[in-house]
This record gives sequence, C-alpha cells and structure tokens, in this order.
Amino acid sequence: MPLRLATQVTGTFVALAALASWSVADAQDDAAALQTAVLAGSCANCHGTDGHSPGAIPSLAGKKEEDLLKALTAFKQGKAKVTVMTRLAKGYTDEQLAALAHYFATRE
Ligand code: HEC
Repeated sequence: MPLRLATQVTGTFVALAALASWSVADAQDDAAALQTAVLAGSCANCHGTDGHSPGAIPSLAGKKEEDLLKALTAFKQGKAKVTVMTRLAKGYTDEQLAALAHYFATRE
C-alpha cells in the first residue's frame, strides 16, 4: 500500500514537473517571439508593416532568411556602401539580427 501511494505520488509529481517545465519553455518561446516583434516594429517606419514596403525602400517580407542576415551582417560590419542601415545595424546584437532575419523571412 505505501509503495503504491508513493508510486502514485511520484507519478503525479513527475507529470506536474513535466507540465511545469513545458509551460516555462513555452512561455520563453512566446517571450522571445514578442521581443523580436517589438524589435521589428522599429523597422516598420521605413520597411513598412511586417516588411511590406509601400515605397522605394526595399521590402523585407518573405525574402530569404540567409540573404537578410547576410545584408544585416554586412551593414553591421560596415561592409556595405549604405548610410542608414550601416548605422542602424550596429545597434543590434548578432542574435537580434538573426532573429530579425528569421522574422522577416517568415512574413507573408
Ligand atoms: C530610417 C529608415 C530605416 C529603418 C528604420 C530601417 N531600415 Fe533597413 N533599409 C533602409 C534603407 C534606406 C535601405 C536601403 C539600403 C540603404 O540605403 O541603407 C535598407 C535596407 C535594408 C536591408 C537590405 C534589403 C535588401 O533587399 O537589400 C535589410 C535586410 C534591412 N534594411 C533590414 C532592416 C531591419 C531588420 C530594420 C529594423 C531593425 C531596418 N532595416 C530598419 C532604411 C531603414
């Protein structure tokens, strides 16, 4: 009897622990996605909502993630002959640029 109870309690505990860790991981994913969306918001002034540019500035939505990251990295390193983006890109970590490249590549 006590053994069965212990097994049940342990089983419940394991299930709860699994549920709790799943939720934490899930919340972290949500928080990361939200942070990237907030970062991407400042790009909208020039590149349009979700990277759909209404004007002469290039659209970002749906471009290849690899190309976006390559461009952003070149801007950050000052390797591209541009003005606005070379200054802007320096303000972001490599991880943030990667997240932004992923974000815009996955917009439709
Ligand atoms: C002040 C306006 C402005 C803002 C804000 C801005 N950009 Fe740009 N972006 C430009 C312009 C203009 C270009 C064209 C190249 C140049 O002259 O700098 C460009 C080019 C790019 C390119 C290259 C696109 C291509 O197809 O060649 C990428 C990628 C890019 N921007 C990403 C971003 C991201 C990500 C953000 C937000 C963190 C952002 N930009 C914010 C103005 C802006």
